Amino acid sequence: MLQTVKEQDIELYKIVEEELNRQRSEIEMIASESYVPTQILELQGSILTNKTTEGFPGNRYHAGCRVIDKAERLGIERAKLLFKAEHANIQPHGGSQANQCVYAAILEPGDTVMGMRLDQGGHLTHGSKVNLSGRFYNFISYGLDRETERIDYDELERLAHEHHPKLIVAGASSYSRIIDYERIAKIAKSVHSKFMVDMAHVAGLVAAGVHPSPVPYADFVTSTTTKTLAGARGGFALCKQDYAKQLDKATFPGVQGSAHLHIMAAKAYTFKRAMTTEFRDCMKQVVKNAQKLAQVLKENGFRIVTDGTDNHLLVVDLRTKNLTGAQFEKALEDVGITVNKNMIPFDPQKPMITSGVRIGTTAMTIKGMKEDEMEIMGNMMKAVADNIDRATVLENIKKQVLELSSKFSLYEGYFDN
Ligand SMILES: Cc1ncc(COP(=O)(O)O)c(C=O)c1O
Repeated sequence: MLQTVKEQDIELYKIVEEELNRQRSEIEMIASESYVPTQILELQGSILTNKTTEGFPGNRYHAGCRVIDKAERLGIERAKLLFKAEHANIQPHGGSQANQCVYAAILEPGDTVMGMRLDQGGHLTHGSKVNLSGRFYNFISYGLDRETERIDYDELERLAHEHHPKLIVAGASSYSRIIDYERIAKIAKSVHSKFMVDMAHVAGLVAAGVHPSPVPYADFVTSTTTKTLAGARGGFALCKQDYAKQLDKATFPGVQGSAHLHIMAAKAYTFKRAMTTEFRDCMKQVVKNAQKLAQVLKENGFRIVTDGTDNHLLVVDLRTKNLTGAQFEKALEDVGITVNKNMIPFDPQKPMITSGVRIGTTAMTIKGMKEDEMEIMGNMMKAVADNIDRATVLENIKKQVLELSSKFSLYEGYFDN
């Protein structure tokens, strides 16, 4: 790939080459990352990008759509089949846009909505004041129970009865436990609220059947096709048939313009691949790896938020190691392990410092790592934490990281043709 780019634009070629080398040599543990198969790279880079169109298959604003309509239809049908959904819209350009499309479909500016607090695991688009969601709508945040560090459903119910939201949003960016969708759906029903689940982080696990599906309980389900789904860089939204027209109209012309056909083709491939036994086995291993890593870190003196994980990520409280998230993130990056600093529940530190890190196992599991490697990684993380100021020890760990990652190949032959 990229041979003509190499000839025409060496600066950009070198950036891609450098990034490929980084992805090959580092241990990637950002919970929202994965490695996509080459078919996704090919489809995202395909000639389908040339077609401009607005609207939906069979109802376009431009001529010449008879071929590309097939790609979008295929994606829609596969999404419906994979998640057992009544309706799918695969046009949202990202997870944020998918959420915005649902909001635009059923809310008016100023309406009351409930979502999970950003500093306890929610996402920016669930009502943060720095995001359009928090500026357009009156978001009331719910959060976690201080003791269990799990969603405080009683508090959520109390807030719902107090504020009578038009919509309750569930789903999170850094919550390691199964969310009780059935319970929140009941709460929503009891106050005549609609219910939306943003399953962006766990969509791959849901597709593989290793995590409960929100689809039977929610009026709307939104997601990215990245993260655990490990596919195209984009989003999608599912809903009950009753809301299909509203959702589509909110997406176009409500929120977005022309459709990205090359990305939708890659989304269609993402859904097909998520139906395979190979993908299911990989997702099972993703969870096993996260649980193993949590166990090893615990044995190594770290505190794991909620004492473990049900999914692909864990949040680690670094206070037992007298470290902040910012310090540990930097120290790990220096030895070649990529994680991100993350607020722990009721964190005394500021968001740019934090007392924790969030660690995900999707990318490294896709590369082929299993429990044995998680043990090595957990031990390396302990060694980094315990030797944060010892340059020679850290240098040695860096070598071990390189040695470990060199055992797992990535995009072999990428630049060969
Ligand atoms: C729960 C959740 N929803 C939505 C998004 C936004 O997705 P995107 O970055 O594609 O807009 C994210 C991304 O991190 C997320 O974690």
